[in-house]
Amino acid sequence: MIIPAKTSNSVTADPVTVGVALGDRAYDIIIGRDVLPSLGQRIAKLRPGARTAIVTDHTVAKHWLAKTEAALAEAGIASSRIVVGEGEGSKSYSVLQDVSEGLIAAKIERNDLVIALGGGVIGDLAGFAAAIVRRGVDFVQVPTSLLAQVDSSVGGKTGINSPHGKNLVGAFHQPVLVIADTSVLDTLSPRQFRAGYAEVAKYGVLGDLKFFEWLEANHAGIFSGSAAREHAIAESCRAKAAIVARDERETGDRALLNLGHTFGHALEAATGFSDRLFHGEGVAVGMVLAAEFSAQLNMISADDAARVQHHLAAVGLPTRLQDIAGFQQEGLADADALMTLMAQDKKVKRGRLTFILLEKIGKAVIANDVDPSTVRHFLAAKLSG
Ligand code: GLY
Repeated sequence: MIIPAKTSNSVTADPVTVGVALGDRAYDIIIGRDVLPSLGQRIAKLRPGARTAIVTDHTVAKHWLAKTEAALAEAGIASSRIVVGEGEGSKSYSVLQDVSEGLIAAKIERNDLVIALGGGVIGDLAGFAAAIVRRGVDFVQVPTSLLAQVDSSVGGKTGINSPHGKNLVGAFHQPVLVIADTSVLDTLSPRQFRAGYAEVAKYGVLGDLKFFEWLEANHAGIFSGSAAREHAIAESCRAKAAIVARDERETGDRALLNLGHTFGHALEAATGFSDRLFHGEGVAVGMVLAAEFSAQLNMISADDAARVQHHLAAVGLPTRLQDIAGFQQEGLADADALMTLMAQDKKVKRGRLTFILLEKIGKAVIANDVDPSTVRHFLAAKLSG
């Protein structure tokens, strides 16, 4: 599985296609350098005569909107644009209203397409607007962050945040196509790229030891833009597509994808969903906490938990509560407050916490009935270092 390192300019491999097998709602994820210009031709083939509306944010628009519009125009596809503010704040009722009204004003109808051009926020927001406008319009994901390319653009989870918590209002609405152009990742900040990498590593930790070992050996090439990047994204999408195909609505195995997220979401909430902690960084800290909690429950060896922490730290991700920006100055919530935040999570059923825990690296399990007092003591110990 070792991919030879190349410079980004020398990567000319054909795009990789990963299928998401969902019967009459099956779709392809196209992964490769410079696949964005093929967007128009692919849409023309998939949905002849469709009009499109691109939903994006200001920063992504600056870099990629013109290229996206040109790709559509070349194939004779009409497009309009809806540009929203960037950041988690756009996953709100008011911005959802703006986008929905924008789609209606742009006369996007049932046979037309919404194009979500951006990171996870845009994919979730535009996908949800597409799910509800005219009782459902199809949409295409064009993810522009590593996190969106390997996770949020695939699988059909769409939605916005509620004042009560993250992603509490939404719908399952699968895209009809995902175009993951890996060259767009070149404009991400190193911190944003690293945050997305946490979700790549997650696939190894939860279900594929060999992939985790490959990441340990090849992570530098993923960051530098060698062919290892496309390989890592394709492997991540394959892993996610397989899980989504067998459990689209998260009644079982799909919950494994939440490894690190129960702790991670509470940490994001405790830091006000601010730049103190990006989502992927919360997942990195959360994944290490899940591994260490699994070790405390004698499910995984302390050495394996340390190995997960070591790999995430090696790429520069935060792995400890104390690594979270401002921990020394502003502190973090105490263990009770973190427990309250976790209780708001969708992963709670009738007051009992569901955690994704590890039996070994490459084998995560769903623990449905975790005793809250054990978790509280564990967190209190971690907070005191
Ligand atoms: N990001 C987790 C999921 O799509 O299920």
